[in-house]
Parts: sequence; structure tokens; C-alpha cells
Amino acid sequence: MQISDVFTAYADEMVQIEAYLDQYISSDIKLIPEVAHHLIDSGGKRFRPLLHLICSRLCGFTGDSRFPLAASIEFIHTASLLHDDVIDEAVIRRGKTSANHVWGNSASVLVGDFLYSKAFTLFSIIGDLEIFRLMSKMTNTMSEGEVFQLMKCGDTNLTEAEYLSIVEKKTAVLISAACESAAVLACAPNEQIQALRQYGYKIGMAFQITDDTLDYMAREEDFGKAIGKDLEEGKMTLPLIYTLAGCSQAERDMIKTTIENKSFSPETIRKIFALIQGSGGIDYSLNCAQTFIRESINDLEVFNQSPAKDHLHAVADYVLSRKQ
Ligand code: IPE
Ligand code: IPE
Ligand code: MG
Ligand code: MG
Repeated sequence: MQISDVFTAYADEMVQIEAYLDQYISSDIKLIPEVAHHLIDSGGKRFRPLLHLICSRLCGFTGDSRFPLAASIEFIHTASLLHDDVIDEAVIRRGKTSANHVWGNSASVLVGDFLYSKAFTLFSIIGDLEIFRLMSKMTNTMSEGEVFQLMKCGDTNLTEAEYLSIVEKKTAVLISAACESAAVLACAPNEQIQALRQYGYKIGMAFQITDDTLDYMAREEDFGKAIGKDLEEGKMTLPLIYTLAGCSQAERDMIKTTIENKSFSPETIRKIFALIQGSGGIDYSLNCAQTFIRESINDLEVFNQSPAKDHLHAVADYVLSRKQ
């Protein structure tokens, strides 16, 4: 099954989520909807809302609160992208000029804050204390992940374990919450809640690791973001960490000096790219993502066979094959 078939199976429900997104970015302060629309209408995949809808169906939940919940998760994701593009000094996002580049850093940060606060407005509408606790904890962890990543930026001694901890905090906890919250709303048995939390966490880990791999090997037209950005930012991701551990001392010195002194030139970038390709750093990272995906499938064993379970399998396959 292709991921497009999965999206088609939830198209009607996605329309309701889009209505929430549209309604809750309105404001009399014109700059807010302007910046928010720029990003929200620019072709994000809606990966996290999709997961929430599938998990709701898997748990037999048909209540309307799944729509504001999925919308709030997309708001948190969108806010984190607005902030991330300021930090990363990005120029393109979703194939368009990024908001920070059109309206400046201050507008991006402030509209990101607006979207965060709207997410919490939506949680209050849902009115479920357990959901509130889950989401508050998750957003705290995401912020910690971003700050930890900032502290470690340009640190060429970053370990694989530290890298995985950053990935867990900045990306996996949100995807995990998108899945787990569906089971919570459904009042599913505890073992199903735990299973979806674990499934989402592993999907999230694999999603960010593939993103970090795509940063070295995607085509900009597909990816919708600039390629090679992580290296230039001094962001130590798995392909680079693996390469640093396995290359010669002279190569290691060259990479470290380049990153630590920020002395990037087309020539040094080309050399480091070649070392990463040649060292097996890409394959190693993709294997790591594959291991998370394989384990995510095991987490679904507590559920009976159903179309929604097949959809979660298709999502897992998609994470490994995505180009976008
Ligand atoms: C981008 O997420 C940020 C990461 C966690 C890698 P997506 O790839 O889901 O972004 P959009 O919403 O589709 O643009
Ligand atoms: C993921 O990190 C960002 C968030 C979790 C907000 P990246 O910096 O890799 O995301 P992209 O590549 O800019 O989308
Ligand atoms: Mg970024
Ligand atoms: Mg990235």
C-alpha cells in the first residue's frame, strides 16, 4: 500500500482538521494570519495529523475531539518549524522562501509563539486533563531538545547516544504523542496506550534520522529544503558522527577544523560529502532508521488485524522510502 492510499482513506477527516487550522490562525493582527497562512498552506505533509487519525480509527474512536487534537499537534509542529528556521537561518521551507526570510526573525518567533498558544487553546476545548498533561510534558521535552541541540551545535565530539537523545526530544516525542493521545481519547486499555506511544516514538526516531540522511542525499526539488544545511550549521547528525568515528586521523582533523572554524568552502563541503558517502555513513544511518521501523511494527502486535493497522504498517514503510 502506498502512503497516498493511506492519505486518501482519511481525506474526509483531514478536511475537518484543515478547517480547525484555518479557523484558529485568524486574528485581527494581520501579520499573524499572513505568516501562518504562508506556512500552513504551503504543502506540509500533515504526517502527524494523519498518524493521529489512523490511531483513532485503530482504537475505534470516532469522537469529534480527534480533529482539534490533530490540529493542535500540527500547530505545535508548525510553530517548531517557524522557530527552527530562525535558529538554522533557513532560506527555503516546503519549496518556498521561508517565513524568516520573508518577514524576518522577530515575526517568525512571535507567530510561532501564537501558534503554540493556539495549540493550548485547542487542548482546553478538548477538556481532558490527561491529554493536557501529555501535551504539556511533550512540549517541555521538545524545548529541552532544541536547547540541548543548540548547546551541542558545532561540538564535533557529540556521541551517537547524545545525538539519539536530541532526536528523541526534538522530534520523536511529538510523533509519539500524536499516536498515544488517540488511544487516550479512546479510553483504550493501558497496553494499547503504551503500544501506540512506543510505535510513535520509534516512527519519530526513524523519521528524523531519515531527514538527517536526506540532508546529505536528497534532491532539493523533492525535499523542499536546502541540501547540506546541517553540515554548514555545525549540526552533528548520524551520517557525520559515524564518518568521524571511522575515518583516518588526517580526515578527522580536516572535518573537525572545518566545522569548528566554520571554514566552509565549496571545496571542503565537497570533500566532507565525499567522505560521508564513502565511509558508509549514509547506509549506517538508514540501517539505524530501519531497525527503529522494524521494532515499531512489533509494537503493533497487541492490536487485532484491521485496515487501520495495515495503514500504520504502510506509514512505517513510507518513513524509510520518503524523499520529501
Ligand atoms: C520536518 O517535518 C521536521 C522534522 C522533524 C524533520 P516534516 O517533514 O513532517 O515537515 P512538513 O510538515 O512535511 O513540511
Ligand atoms: C527538526 O530538525 C526540527 C524540528 C523538530 C522543529 P531539522 O532542523 O532537521 O528540521 P528541518 O530539516 O529544518 O526540517
Ligand atoms: Mg532546520
Ligand atoms: Mg533536517
